[in-house]
Amino acid sequence: MSKPRLHGKVALITGAASGIGEETARLFAANGAFVVVADIDDELGQKVVDSIGVNQASFHHCDVRDEKQVEETVNYTIEKHGRLDILFSNAGIIGCLTSSILTLDMSKFDNIMATNVRGMIATIKHAGRVMIERKIRE
Ligand SMILES: NC(=O)c1ccc[n+]([C@@H]2O[C@H](COP(=O)([O-])OP(=O)(O)OC[C@H]3O[C@@H](n4cnc5c(N)ncnc54)[C@H](O)[C@@H]3O)[C@@H](O)[C@H]2O)c1
Repeated sequence: MSKPRLHGKVALITGAASGIGEETARLFAANGAFVVVADIDDELGQKVVDSIGVNQASFHHCDVRDEKQVEETVNYTIEKHGRLDILFSNAGIIGCLTSSILTLDMSKFDNIMATNVRGMIATIKHAGRVMIERKIRE
């Protein structure tokens, strides 16, 4: 029997405690990958890991708005699992902005930008750091 498609691969998924990220974590694990579930929601994140199984998933707390936490999550992935093959920078919020610029809540706007834009970029930056480095070495 052939090995599952993602056998031996290590995937990091931000926002994997629920929704699209959670489903992707399950799909990747079902296809043989080891998945690092990263999220601000520790309780839900750990539940996802427990249901996938600790042999195929682990949880790491990560608020993508904080670059330091993103860096630590990528470092954790390398230290614990030795490699990072797949990144799904998925963490995000739909947010609820008013339809009128005149009543726009700038603190809500800042939070959406910090999560969906800055957080996304910080995640790609730090994952890219280790993924490109490995590619250069190989
Ligand atoms: N569901 C949709 O129709 C839709 C449409 C367009 C874009 N998206 C985007 O797809 C992604 C996933 O959407 P979803 O529907 O699965 O959302 P969801 O709310 O079900 O899941 C998002 C996950 O991200 C986590 N999260 C939120 N802020 C975070 C932060 N600062 N750091 C780390 N984790 C954080 C949450 O705890 C949650 O587990 C989001 O980025 C969303 O904006 C979704």
